Amino acid sequence: MSSTRRTIGIGLAGLGRMGRIHADDLAGRCATGRLACVQDADPAVAREAGERYGVPWVSSFAELLAHDDVDAVAIATPTGTHAELTVQAARAGVDVFCEKPISLDRATTVATVEEVERSGIVFQVGFHRRFDPDWVAVAERIHAGELGDVALFRTSLRDMASPPAAFLAGSGGFFRDVTVHDLDVARWMVGEVVEVTAHGAAVSDPEAFAAIGDVDTAVVVLRFANGALGVIDNSRASGYGYECSTEIMGSRATARIDAPHRRNYEWRTPGAATTDLVKDFQERYPWAYAEELDAFARCVRDRTTPRVSGADALAAFDLAEAANLSWRSGRSVAVRYAGRGYELAGATV
Ligand SMILES: NC(=O)c1ccc[n+]([C@@H]2O[C@H](COP(=O)([O-])OP(=O)(O)OC[C@H]3O[C@@H](n4cnc5c(N)ncnc54)[C@H](O)[C@@H]3O)[C@@H](O)[C@H]2O)c1
Repeated sequence: MSSTRRTIGIGLAGLGRMGRIHADDLAGRCATGRLACVQDADPAVAREAGERYGVPWVSSFAELLAHDDVDAVAIATPTGTHAELTVQAARAGVDVFCEKPISLDRATTVATVEEVERSGIVFQVGFHRRFDPDWVAVAERIHAGELGDVALFRTSLRDMASPPAAFLAGSGGFFRDVTVHDLDVARWMVGEVVEVTAHGAAVSDPEAFAAIGDVDTAVVVLRFANGALGVIDNSRASGYGYECSTEIMGSRATARIDAPHRRNYEWRTPGAATTDLVKDFQERYPWAYAEELDAFARCVRDRTTPRVSGADALAAFDLAEAANLSWRSGRSVAVRYAGRGYELAGATV
């Protein structure tokens, strides 16, 4: 078979909420990547997934890396484990797709990106919106100059309900876990940021979020180097559904991306109309998660550079750190893109 037609066997580590979406996609929706082997810290979970998808399962990451049919790995384990697993794979010369964020702290994130770069492996981080057809189309038109000068960037990311308490405790906090997606999109669509101001509140369950020093609702205001302003709103518990939408206003055009419904019909009765709403990120992004893995598999096959690099993930992480610092200190945080990540003015995060 010619190298351009080869499929890439992906070994998947972590089979929770996100891992199961990746497993479904690799088993059914991807053309170049395919599910080759699964692994989870809980062997019963790995066995069940292996049987369901008809692929081998193993009980350690070392076995996953060494498996004959594994060309590359996808890591969908809790955030606090990403860096160690990525470095292990890089040292074994195995290409890595890693869920966001790379780690819970900056020093580990930097060390991981450096290790990955030294190793020369293909490394992609899970910012899935960069692979959604609507977001890609709009970004391409902005980058081609069709929108003119960007004046305003507005984006919403709201989960219907909070994830389990165990996930929240290891998530790194709201800004690193949730807002980081919007911060990556902000850089991608508008450009580098020069100031971050964040407000946070715990509304859905104040006691539970106070106990872990976190929030479930936030508004983040951005100033961009090109003069544009941005506003991000995030919620862990919208109640009504999952929302991920954006609007970019420019001097020549305004772009809006929204896809709140699974079905395009309303049911009308006297004085009312009802329609469905998407409930979670899997329903909202039926294609983006599959395409990000397939794009990764094509990079592995063709030895090309992924659209979202470790350096992009570091930059988004730094902006999340700035938001975290702003929320905690109650002041705006000046940031400067340093070619590799951001410097935060007076930062002590
Ligand atoms: N891109 C997105 O839209 C998106 C959405 C949700 C979660 N995520 C990310 O995906 C990651 C996982 O989140 P989740 O919600 O699926 O978590 P989860 O808790 O639902 O699942 C994690 C799974 O990993 C397993 N695990 C734990 N430690 C492990 C280890 N060392 N090796 C192998 N398996 C291990 C657990 O047993 C569990 O099955 C997080 O980093 C999160 O930020 C991304």
